Amino acid sequence: MVGHQGSAPCIPVWKTGVFLSTLMPGEMELIVVVGCFKRRNNPDMTIPAELLQRLAVAKSVTVLTGAGISAESGVPTFRDAQTGLWAKFSPEELATPRAFRRDPRLVWEWYEWRRKLVVDAMPNPAHLALAEIERLFQRFHLITQNVDGLHQRAGSRNIIELHGNITRTKCSEEGTIVSSWKDTGDVPPKCPACGGLLRPDVVWFEEPMPEEEMQLAMTASTHCDVFFSIGTSTVVYPAAALPSEALRSGAMVVEINPQPTPFTPQAHFALAGAAGVVLPKLVRVISASRRF
Ligand code: APR
Repeated sequence: MVGHQGSAPCIPVWKTGVFLSTLMPGEMELIVVVGCFKRRNNPDMTIPAELLQRLAVAKSVTVLTGAGISAESGVPTFRDAQTGLWAKFSPEELATPRAFRRDPRLVWEWYEWRRKLVVDAMPNPAHLALAEIERLFQRFHLITQNVDGLHQRAGSRNIIELHGNITRTKCSEEGTIVSSWKDTGDVPPKCPACGGLLRPDVVWFEEPMPEEEMQLAMTASTHCDVFFSIGTSTVVYPAAALPSEALRSGAMVVEINPQPTPFTPQAHFALAGAAGVVLPKLVRVISASRRF
């Protein structure tokens, strides 16, 4: 069904109470995209002229990022093999409320490991390029599935965090953000207000998406001239549906990823390269084309 125009059924891409999940390939076929589809291979990393022309006059740009944009900062992507101590665990098994109920210490310690990785990491040229691109357009939205805070540290401002932020902690009972607690040796530590277990402020699989962020992301995706999907495997919903929503709304949609994804055949342009290489180049050419 992908790529067909007409009245075929489509996934209700966003509605209140939508949950974080990975859809099976069969389910993904239900997505209907209306638009024109031009895939470009891009082995020499040239930025297509048609994209540059659109960017030269674009007023509004929206970007969706995933774990791939932080790969060059040394933060392993979600679907990469985990390393060291954590090699035998799959993230899909640890990032769930069920896993936390079953073994809160294991889940807390895994997030402690990830949190340390993230705090020690530095924004890479891809993060920095996006912060620069933000300054070149009247309206710019950066929707991220990443919880690492590297876009903020790179200087991006208009960020919509869809899956929370690993550097924040919340009470698993009350949902309140907790910024300090007594070190009593408990793992996980306990909420100073109610004694509930503390957990990272991230959205786990099977948990509801934050409504306000989803609404903002949907609006930004359906009201832009150009939409970039960068460093995401587009298999985790509802974020994975945003590029299709942008297409349906008439945006030019560009994917930046060294590997093909389920969305690649639908993108107007698929720039097959590392974000840290493609994005700095894109900044240079956009800056030149928008200088009068
Ligand atoms: N530049 C661009 N893309 C890259 C790079 C790079 N240097 N390195 C890897 N990638 C791509 C991979 O090819 C892959 O398509 O980044 C993508 C990473 O995919 P995932 O690990 O599936 O990450 P993501 O799409 O962000 O996952 C979505 O799923 O596990 C949940 O909540 C978690 O936010 C995460 C969500």
